[in-house]
Amino acid sequence: MVANEITIRVATPADLEPLSVLIAASYATLGEAAYDREKLAAAMPLMSRANPTLLASGTYFIAETDGQIAGCGGWTFEKPGNGERVDGIAHIRHFATHPAHHRKGVARLLLQRCLDEAARAGATIMKSQSTLLAEPFYASAGFRRVRPIDVEMSPGIVLPVVEMERSLP
Ligand SMILES: CC(C)(COP(=O)(O)OP(=O)(O)OC[C@H]1O[C@@H](n2cnc3c(N)ncnc32)[C@H](O)[C@@H]1OP(=O)(O)O)[C@@H](O)C(=O)NCCC(=O)NCCS
Repeated sequence: MVANEITIRVATPADLEPLSVLIAASYATLGEAAYDREKLAAAMPLMSRANPTLLASGTYFIAETDGQIAGCGGWTFEKPGNGERVDGIAHIRHFATHPAHHRKGVARLLLQRCLDEAARAGATIMKSQSTLLAEPFYASAGFRRVRPIDVEMSPGIVLPVVEMERSLP
């Protein structure tokens, strides 16, 4: 599959159910990234559903190929977790590619859309809280590792991720 057969559209709240199925399938592959099994099992129900706020944001996208949803991802000025906004800083949100479509350029195309839009909207830095599995993906797009962080998904449920960032454009 080549990149020009992948189309990108803005997600809507009507995409909630199919995207949740895709995200759950995608995040199930995180076990390949040396995550502690118990931590992953506890965090999975919290992170493997599509986020209704993102779906309504206008900056969350769906990649389709052959009429099927292959991936999703977006960006916001709000920081994930606390919603904090800092001038010029944008954040990558909830990227996932269905395992059947891994390594076909789906996430790369979604990411390019996010980087382009965020730069046009005035962002000069894009940040990502990358899963351990996704670090090489963001690195391939010019992100640098800032530091490892623990994301508290809910009280007592913590997932180690890597804070990454790159400048825009
Ligand atoms: C991370 C993820 C979104 C990447 O999606 P993808 O559509 O397979 O990525 P792409 O095909 O666009 O990859 C683009 C480039 O990123 C790098 N890359 C992607 N996945 C990689 C991997 N597993 N190992 C090493 N490099 C990788 C490669 O350089 C790749 O280019 P190449 O295939 O020409 O070598 C996908 O693995 C995924 O859904 N993972 C589970 C959920 C997750 O961790 N989401 C991220 C949340 S922060």
